Amino acid sequence: MQRIFLIGFMGSGKSTLGRQLAEKLNYTFLETDQLVEQNVGLKITEIFEKFGEDYFRKKEHDILIQLQLVHNCIIATGGGMPCYFNNMELLNELGTTIWLEVDELTLVDRLKNETSERPLLQQSQNLHQRIHELLDQRKKFYDGSKYVINNPTVEKILEVL
Ligand code: S3P
Repeated sequence: MQRIFLIGFMGSGKSTLGRQLAEKLNYTFLETDQLVEQNVGLKITEIFEKFGEDYFRKKEHDILIQLQLVHNCIIATGGGMPCYFNNMELLNELGTTIWLEVDELTLVDRLKNETSERPLLQQSQNLHQRIHELLDQRKKFYDGSKYVINNPTVEKILEVL
């Protein structure tokens, strides 16, 4: 009944590496963003626009609680999930948490053409500054993960499992 949670900032590779990892381990791959979208019936950007961030965070929390029902899964979590409610504690109770730590400049490079899909980055005049601020607030939560992998690759993740 293994559950492996990939934790980390937007653009840290949770979905890409999660898919590859699931294939190698013969696990199911899930993304909390996608589960929230399915639950609400709207895209993340539309949920933020129509109902606001608090509503999204509540839905994200509800989805996390339901994940106790799934087994043998790799789960890519939304970048903000560990930072709200008691989510980080819950994540550690439900499975193995792995923080995919990627440096700020790499994140800026990966995210610079994708800000329209990410409500928290949409209005930032200075993307690097915005990422820096968010990371500064979030690192203490991400740091509660069981494992931290810097510049993650599938091989590095497999080594700790
Ligand atoms: C968010 C990250 C996004 C998504 C939403 C909010 C965040 O997920 O949950 O836009 O607060 O960092 P990804 O990390 O998969 O991009």
